[in-house]
Amino acid sequence: MANVKKRLRSQDWFGGRDKMGFVHRSWLRNQGYPDDWFGGKPVIGICNTWSELTPCNGHLRDLAENVKRGILEAGGVPFEFPVMSLGETIMKPTTMLFRNLASMDVEESIRANPLDGVVLMTGCDKTTPSLLMGACSVGLPTLVVSGGPMLNGKFRGGEIGSGTFNWKVKAKLDSGEFSDADLTEAEVCGSRSAGHCNTMGTASTMAVMAEALGMTLPGMASIPAADSRKKLMAQLSGRRIVEMVSEDLTPMQVLTRPAFENAIVVNAAVGGSTNLILHLLAIAGRIGVPLALEDFDRHGSQVPLLVNLKPSGQRLMEDFFYAGGLGVVMKELGALLHRDVLTVNGRTLDENYQAARCYDTTVIRPRAEPLQPAAGIAVLHGNLCEQGAVIKPSAATPALLKHRGPAVVFTSMEDYHARIDTPDLAISADSVIVLQGVGPRGYPGMPEVGNVDLPRKLVEQGVTDMVRISDGRMSGTAYGTVVLHVAPESAAGGTLALVQDGDLVELDVPARRLQLLVDDAELARRRAAWVPPAPLATRGYVKLYIDHVQQAHLGADLDLLVGSSGPVVERDSH
Ligand code: FES
Ligand code: MG
Repeated sequence: MANVKKRLRSQDWFGGRDKMGFVHRSWLRNQGYPDDWFGGKPVIGICNTWSELTPCNGHLRDLAENVKRGILEAGGVPFEFPVMSLGETIMKPTTMLFRNLASMDVEESIRANPLDGVVLMTGCDKTTPSLLMGACSVGLPTLVVSGGPMLNGKFRGGEIGSGTFNWKVKAKLDSGEFSDADLTEAEVCGSRSAGHCNTMGTASTMAVMAEALGMTLPGMASIPAADSRKKLMAQLSGRRIVEMVSEDLTPMQVLTRPAFENAIVVNAAVGGSTNLILHLLAIAGRIGVPLALEDFDRHGSQVPLLVNLKPSGQRLMEDFFYAGGLGVVMKELGALLHRDVLTVNGRTLDENYQAARCYDTTVIRPRAEPLQPAAGIAVLHGNLCEQGAVIKPSAATPALLKHRGPAVVFTSMEDYHARIDTPDLAISADSVIVLQGVGPRGYPGMPEVGNVDLPRKLVEQGVTDMVRISDGRMSGTAYGTVVLHVAPESAAGGTLALVQDGDLVELDVPARRLQLLVDDAELARRRAAWVPPAPLATRGYVKLYIDHVQQAHLGADLDLLVGSSGPVVERDSH
C-alpha cells in the first residue's frame, strides 16, 4: 500500500466527522462501500470516454475494470465517472467543435469531486486532447491509459487500414468496381476488433503523443486494444497512479517544454497527423508552457521518418506493435530527444526505453536508413496566412511543393460540392483549389475537409494531386499537397477570404512561403468591401465557441479556457 504522508484532498469530503462528512459518505454507501474506503486512502477518478456512440472507445468500460484492479491492489479507492465522449465517425458537424466542451466537462468533473488523482481513458481522436486539456487545467496527478488500435483490417487476402481505405471506397463505388454487397463486406472486415483506427491517423498519433510526453506508462501507445497486454498495462497504470498521488507527481512536472519538443520530434518520426499541432498547442496553453506554431517546424521538420505506417507508409499499428512499438522509435531517436525528462512512472525517458529492440526493420527503420530524411510539418508564412499555415510535406507530391497556379475559389463546402464536378468548371491540374469558410469560427469547428477530392474530370485524365489551400484540417489518414490551418481564417477576415478566381497563388515549401500574388492596393480595396459572414449560431455552446475560439496557430482552444484554475474548491455545497 502506498505510504501517503500528506493530507489527501479527498479527505476534505470524506474526512469530516460532522454533518457534511456524513452527507459525502452516506449516499455513496448505497453502493456497499466499506468504512476504510473513506478513511484516508488515495481516491482515484477513472475519467472514462466509453460510449456506444464512440466505437473506438467501446471497450473502455471493460478496460476500466483492469485499472480498478490495479488501484485496489495499491491501496487506493477507484471511482469511475463518464465524461463527454467524442466519436469521430459519427458526430456532426465535426468532433473538433466539441473538443473544448469536452475539456470543460473533464476539468469541472475532476475539480468538483473528491479525487486525489486521475486516470484518463482515451481512444478516438479528440478524446485524448480533451481529457489532457481538462486534467491540465486542474493539475492533480494524472496518467493516461490509451485504449489501443484495432487489429489490422483483413479483406479478401489484403489489408484495410482504417480511414485510409475510405478514400479508395469512393473510387471503387464510382468506377463500379464495388457492388453494394462488396461495400458491406469491406465494412465488417475493416473493423474486426475493438479499438481505434489502426493507421497512424489522429488517434494513434494522440496515443503516441501521450506516451512521448511522458503521460503513459512506457509501451502503452502501440498495444492493440484486443491484446491482453493492454489489460495488463491498464492494471499497472492503476497501481502507478496511487503511487503518483503519494509522490505528488503532477502534470506540471512531466509536461515541461522539453517534453513538448519530444512530442513534436516523435510525431515527425512516426509520420503522425497534422492534428497534433492543434492539440499540442492547446495542451501547452493549459499547462502554461510556451509553445508556438514555429516550434513544429523548428524541432520537427528535419526529423527522419522511421515508421512505415499508413498514411505515410504501408503498414498498420498491429505490425508496429510486433516490430517493437514506440519504444524502438524512442530509443532510435537518440539525442534528437531530451532523454532526461521525467515520465509518469517516475523514471526518465532514457531509462524507460533502454531495453527496446526492433524485431522488424521493414516497419521501424534504423535512423541511418530512414524512409524519408525529413518528415515533419512545415509551417508557412506569407500574405495568404499572416499567422501561419501548415503542410505535411511527407504526404505531398514532391513536384508540387514549389508551385504557382491560378486559384479556383470555393466559398464553402456546399459551394464546393455543388460545383466541383460540373463539366464547365474552369480548372486544370495547375489550378490551386482554395476553400474558404472551413476554419474554427467559419464552419464552425474546423472540420477535416482540407484534402477535398479533385474534380472527377481531372482524375479521369490521370491527375492524382493538386495544391489545395484552406483554413480547415485534414484527417490524420489523408494525404496530398494540402495546405491547412490557414490563420487568420476567412471568417475572421483573413486574406484567404479575399482570394478570387484566377488570382495567382504561389506555394514554396522549401522557402516556407504562401503568397497571394495580388498587389496590396487591390487587396486593401477587397478588404474594405469584405462583409463578414452572418453568425452561424445565436445561442448555446456553439455561440460560446464562435465568440471565444482562438485561431489555429494558437491551437483553437477557447480564449477563456487557456491556463489552469488548480484543484482547490473554496466553497461547500451545503
Ligand atoms: Fe475513432 Fe479513427 S475514428 S480513432
Ligand atoms: Mg480523424
